[in-house]
Amino acid sequence: MGDLVYEGKAKKLFTTKDPNVLLVQYKDDATAFNGEKKEIIEGKGALNNKITSYFFELLAEKSVPSHFLERLSTLEQLVKRVTIVPLEVVVRNVTAGSFAKRLGLQEGRPLPFPIVEFYYKDDSLGDPLILEDHIYALEITSKEVVVEMKEQALKINDILYEHMEQHGIRLVDFKLEFGLDHAGQVLLADEISPDTCRFWDLQSGDKLDKDRFRRNLGNVLEAYQEIEKRLGGQ
Ligand code: TMP
Repeated sequence: MGDLVYEGKAKKLFTTKDPNVLLVQYKDDATAFNGEKKEIIEGKGALNNKITSYFFELLAEKSVPSHFLERLSTLEQLVKRVTIVPLEVVVRNVTAGSFAKRLGLQEGRPLPFPIVEFYYKDDSLGDPLILEDHIYALEITSKEVVVEMKEQALKINDILYEHMEQHGIRLVDFKLEFGLDHAGQVLLADEISPDTCRFWDLQSGDKLDKDRFRRNLGNVLEAYQEIEKRLGGQ
């Protein structure tokens, strides 16, 4: 194992022999509300590794570039080293979560078009919603990068929305992170999993994602297993 480069709430990053390649190790830790709520959910790391690998492979087939190289083992992936843009990119198809709360809306209302939002990645501030003008005024990243992230996020939404629908799941919303590689190319990074998406069963409306943990609904692991099963796992 190489040196630990970074430890986040759900993953660790290690160096490899190749300076442009990092090893990601998924953890079983679940956190919510900026780390205030914490639990270990045994088996979550393996499921998120599998599900993220599945999505990154699907996106690669549809010409969406990402940092993903290969899934190495139950908990590990190899990825290209990127510098993460400190913005979370959220795409919403249906009212839910902080959007519903902020604007006093009921959850579950389909939106007339997908909404893209940016959140500033800063734990001490609790990742606040940020406007595009704020991003430019504070020089967080360039307009080119923002435009590219938005375009990719909407393309990813089209692909994943349709794919999940075919598997009986409504893609309500999700969060993406992007990075810049050594050549300055914008690459999808981080993960796409039930930790970072809202997945509702198309028929029953049952939540099959991290909201089960955030809202103490129980059967967290079972929900993640159900997503894996729908996507063709055993
Ligand atoms: P929100 O409704 O709480 O703003 O969440 C929007 C989407 O982003 C939802 O699918 C969950 C995901 N998300 C993360 O992946 N990480 C986070 O820290 C938060 C707050 C949300």
